[in-house]
Amino acid sequence: MAKARTQFICQNCGTAHNRWVGKCEGCGEWNTVVEEDPMGGIGSGPGKVPKKGRPVALTALSGEIEEAPRIHTGIGELDRATGGGFVRGSAVLIGGDPGIGKSTLLMQAAAALSRRGHRIIYVSGEEAVAQVRLRAQRLHAAETDVLLAAETNVEDILATIGEGKRPDLVIIDSIQTLWSDTADAAPGTVTQVRTGVQAMIRFAKQTGAAMVLVGHVTKEGQIAGPRVVEHMVDAVLYFEGDRGHHYRILRTVKNRFGPTDEIGVFEMSDKGLREVSNPSELFLGERNSKSPGAAVFAGMEGTRPVLVEVQALVAPTSLGTPRRAVLGWDSARLSMILAVLEAHCGVRLGQHDVYLNVAGGYRISEPAADLAVASALVSSLAGLALPADCVYFGEVSLSGAIRPVAHTAQRLKEAEKLGFSQAVLPAGSADLPKGAGSRWSEIDSLPDLVARIAG
Ligand code: TYD
Ligand code: MG
Repeated sequence: MAKARTQFICQNCGTAHNRWVGKCEGCGEWNTVVEEDPMGGIGSGPGKVPKKGRPVALTALSGEIEEAPRIHTGIGELDRATGGGFVRGSAVLIGGDPGIGKSTLLMQAAAALSRRGHRIIYVSGEEAVAQVRLRAQRLHAAETDVLLAAETNVEDILATIGEGKRPDLVIIDSIQTLWSDTADAAPGTVTQVRTGVQAMIRFAKQTGAAMVLVGHVTKEGQIAGPRVVEHMVDAVLYFEGDRGHHYRILRTVKNRFGPTDEIGVFEMSDKGLREVSNPSELFLGERNSKSPGAAVFAGMEGTRPVLVEVQALVAPTSLGTPRRAVLGWDSARLSMILAVLEAHCGVRLGQHDVYLNVAGGYRISEPAADLAVASALVSSLAGLALPADCVYFGEVSLSGAIRPVAHTAQRLKEAEKLGFSQAVLPAGSADLPKGAGSRWSEIDSLPDLVARIAG
């Protein structure tokens, strides 16, 4: 057998290099490459007899399997993000910045599941059992039957969770603390994290337990980030939020058993995370509708409409190169809108600084926000406030045309529910509710919008 050579593995993306390099060729990150034993933990020993499998016809399975068996937490926002609860025998990765609230969320989920009669084991590699208990007390979760264990060694964890009655759900907090005797690398490296996660996934598949893995997002790359195991697990959720704000968003980025565009919204309080089932109210909470530069965007997050305020400040500058600063939106998209405003609407912004902010620290990813952004920009430049009861949505093309977007009816329904009686939207929107009168203004080009606002 050839002698296993050590490899140099990027801790950020997992790319293997034959020699040490300062900059990873895979992801371009600096100082993330660490020497590791590539075969560590992966059984390649001699003498294994191959086992013959039996392929099954796809049609023969119908009827046997209807829906993936799920464990509902009863925490609506969490169930929504996972696509209806944790799936038995599957592994979910929950990533996020340190301190964002992952352990809090999972302790609350564990308590909720335990109250519903499920057997839950919470394995903490970062905190001692006493510390976890203390948190549970603050969250009013201490009086439940959640089992706690403070372990980091993979073999010990497997022995612990495999003992006695089978758990319905196991939480590993976090994957970065996992280390295995079989892998010859330092804890926290790609090899260790992968080996540990592999073992946990195998446990889930064998026992039918749902496995929830917590992973810290790391900036330095000295310890392996959740990215290196994203492809191994069945679902990946990221817990995001701005530390300056109270709310947190659980965003699904991969899901083998459900949709990937759902979000769960929570608010962090002194008693833990509270569900926010109507996010629009939260994001519009501190609105001052009388000032120029604010436009309400009627957006969609998965199947749910979300109203959020877009704020722009356009101010004359003395700098040679004017500033462009964006929070909560794509800066390339802003540059595009500015270019279209200049080229097709005669709006001159070369002598102006432009600041764009999405209220509440929320992040918009939909191109449908173009029209709201353009409205906020024009409103700020003209110094004219937009109608307080109006929402905006529509995609702007490079030619200055406004393109229809999906879910028109749902966006308008949410707007009406929250007291907005007008909307500016793309002409030719497919599912525009009939008989709505003239409160919906259909426009087909950006110059139309500028003329409406600046008169
Ligand atoms: P934690 O769940 O430990 O974060 P993570 O596991 O993602 O690292 O949450 C840590 C933060 O949450 C901490 O800064 C304090 C805050 N927090 C509250 O505001 N209220 C609470 O009830 C709890 C338990 C935590
Ligand atoms: Mg934690």
